[in-house]
Amino acid sequence: METRRSGTDRILHRRDDHRHPRRPSVDVVEQEHAPRRVLILGGTTEAAELTRRVVALVSRPELTVSFAGRTTSRAAVPEGVDVRVGGFGGIDGLRRHLDDGRFDAVVDATHPFAARMPFHAQAACDALGLALVRVLRPAWHAQPDDRWAVVDDVSAAAAEVARSGARRVFLTVGRQELAPFAACTGIELLVRSIDRPAPNVLADAEVLLSRGPFDVAAETELLRSRRIELLVSKNAGGSATYAKIEAARALGIPVVMVRRPPSPDVRTVATAAEALAWLAGQTAGGRR
Ligand SMILES: NC(=O)c1ccc[n+]([C@@H]2O[C@H](COP(=O)([O-])OP(=O)(O)OC[C@H]3O[C@@H](n4cnc5c(N)ncnc54)[C@H](OP(=O)(O)O)[C@@H]3O)[C@@H](O)[C@H]2O)c1
Repeated sequence: METRRSGTDRILHRRDDHRHPRRPSVDVVEQEHAPRRVLILGGTTEAAELTRRVVALVSRPELTVSFAGRTTSRAAVPEGVDVRVGGFGGIDGLRRHLDDGRFDAVVDATHPFAARMPFHAQAACDALGLALVRVLRPAWHAQPDDRWAVVDDVSAAAAEVARSGARRVFLTVGRQELAPFAACTGIELLVRSIDRPAPNVLADAEVLLSRGPFDVAAETELLRSRRIELLVSKNAGGSATYAKIEAARALGIPVVMVRRPPSPDVRTVATAAEALAWLAGQTAGGRR
């Protein structure tokens, strides 16, 4: 495999050695290896924020943001940023994309519940020796008044709902993972999602189409007016969708909380601001 040199500025500094005044000044070659081409794996508020922040830099890398293409409406991307949509075709496809595009660094800002992409990013970046950081917002933690049943995945959540005895359940796990709840017969299901679920999935459920952020007053009113007895949520973390958790706590409504999938062992930061600092601090020519 070709080992390529990333965009590298060679900066010449004259540096006087004050400890040895008679020694002549020397030219010290310092190399600043800020990444020149950065791929952001997007689909989150952190990805959108990082994109805005990078674009605002005076000297900025070329930026490509990649979306999986799951939602019909995407957050607007600033001018001058390349956008690509759709899967890469597994680890090999991503590796080829990174190599062909001569990317120096990757920011994996996919969702905490994106189970595969973070591992693909790790493998492809390892293969090419590219710098990689994951932006992973901290998970929520149960507060003293929370009544959480923590489960491993959405199928386990559906099983929990089926045996809960609740009559009206609010499902906020996204539209892609509703199928297991078909087993929850005799329970009124209220589904909230950004895009409409496929018509053959949970055909009897009521669907609310809406995108966060949500506020506590509106979430409390929703839970109260629909007489919701159980909330199902992924542990997405962050503030945009936390209001439902606060509302459930205030109303004493139990929550089935789906635990996050495993994350690869890569450098991880919690915020877009930290990812920006990481990008700025890259001094290994895009290599880790
Ligand atoms: N899962 C959630 O709850 C959730 C919530 C909000 C947003 N999202 C966003 O929706 C996207 C898909 O989620 P998922 O749960 O299907 O993730 P996933 O299981 O990790 O990804 C499945 C496949 O989708 C493609 N993919 C994922 N993210 C991509 C990106 N940013 N750009 C291009 N291709 C991408 C990849 O296809 P190839 O193997 O062909 O490359 C990947 O193998 C993610 O970007 C994530 O940030 C997910």
